[in-house]
Amino acid sequence: RHGIRIAIDGPSGAGKSTIAKRVAARLGFDYIDTGAMYRSIGLKMARSGFFGEDGMHGGAVDPSREIDPDRLSSVLAETEIDFREGKVYLDGEDVESEIRNSEISKAASACAQIGIVREKLVDIQREIGSRKNVVMDGRDIGTNVFRDAEYKFFLTAAPEERAKRRFLELKEKGQDVVYEDILKDVEERDYRDTHRELNPLRKAEDAVEIDSTHMTIEEVVDEICSRVTI
Ligand code: C5P
Repeated sequence: RHGIRIAIDGPSGAGKSTIAKRVAARLGFDYIDTGAMYRSIGLKMARSGFFGEDGMHGGAVDPSREIDPDRLSSVLAETEIDFREGKVYLDGEDVESEIRNSEISKAASACAQIGIVREKLVDIQREIGSRKNVVMDGRDIGTNVFRDAEYKFFLTAAPEERAKRRFLELKEKGQDVVYEDILKDVEERDYRDTHRELNPLRKAEDAVEIDSTHMTIEEVVDEICSRVTI
């Protein structure tokens, strides 16, 4: 037995987390942000110096650095990720505000290519879905984590629109950002996410695709909720 699982996958900046959060609130489900889990591991790896000395102090992350698998394995064994009230905790610490920047985006996308990282996080995700009704967003929820999810959605939007949304979001937070840099980041991340060997981003055959380029958040939430019966 398990809860009702709603999987929402798609590329970065398609609005998954905003939409998944609202769908969860409307249906009374738990919202699980799997990207935040990869970001938290990325943060821990950056702090541990896996992406270069600089990454340790919140400086530049070099995602192409060679990773020592034995050292990573022992760091992961001592790493705890959990969710409380929709927020991710890394070893008991609320890291929400530290994981939303472009260096940690890079670190997350790099660590998401590593098998032992994915195994650990997928186990946690399945465990959460086994006891609760969840809306889970990510890249591989419908294709891997919950292949038998009750509902699957694939949310997309044009890269320029996604970059624009991310730009406005970071700007709102007072970060000093340049649109062209963000578009480049979006395109690079799309490339890495769709071309990686392990559970690459793709639409599950039985997922409903929603292109949100010309839709408002409310319209997308309505569209998803109208398809779910609880
Ligand atoms: O969704 P978000 O941008 O927060 O995710 C950060 C990174 O984590 C993504 O670029 C992707 O590489 C990775 N990720 C993943 N599988 C998931 C969720 C996120 O590989 N289910």
